[in-house]
Amino acid sequence: MSHIIAPSVLSCDFANVQRDVEMINNSEADWFHIDVMDGVFVPNISFGFPVIKAIKRHAKKPLDVHLMIEDPDRYVEEFAQAGADILTVHYEACRHLHRTIQLIKDNGMQAGVALNPHTSVDLLENVIMDLDLVLIMSVNPGFGGQKFIENAELKVEETKHLIDHHGSHAKIEVDGGVNLDTGKRLLLAGADALVAGSFVFKSADPTKTISDLKNL
Ligand code: DX5
Ligand code: ZN
Repeated sequence: MSHIIAPSVLSCDFANVQRDVEMINNSEADWFHIDVMDGVFVPNISFGFPVIKAIKRHAKKPLDVHLMIEDPDRYVEEFAQAGADILTVHYEACRHLHRTIQLIKDNGMQAGVALNPHTSVDLLENVIMDLDLVLIMSVNPGFGGQKFIENAELKVEETKHLIDHHGSHAKIEVDGGVNLDTGKRLLLAGADALVAGSFVFKSADPTKTISDLKNL
């Protein structure tokens, strides 16, 4: 199967969300990447349930929701109700990560764990069999349009090794600073899914840019 492209709605035009959702519907993109920020775990606030529900009403592809929030257990059920298909929490934001992963699955969603740039891949060893997705952050979370951190490529290789070693079915997604150059290298390193925000939405032709990423 070819790799997955998940445009990040964070970089869309919020005055024209429905137009941008339709653009993604009609493109070669596979998922909607939805970034939720609480102003505590990361130094930025994005959007919450009303916006996600509005996107869900129009989206014809799965919602890949990336929670950059402290103690996400409090809201797992509500994200399921809002329409999340994949729910990813940060390793650094969960005191009882195993419980959080089970809670996500009990609510009928696929479970992902994201790692900040400083967090080692081997910390996932004891949950890798429970995961549907590992999200490698290739920028410090909080903002679109940041510079790609090169070490992410090595972390993708390490994650691939961990997954293969244990026989896990988890996919590897990478988020931050993805363009055609970094995207190609990440795919060679073993990535299954690429998130792209500013590279898609700041381009002259977002539909074509998604196609270019899909055909890497
Ligand atoms: C960053 C978010 C990303 C962001 C990526 O905290 O998690 O999903 O939208 O944006 P780009 O692709 O512009 O780095
Ligand atoms: Zn994200």
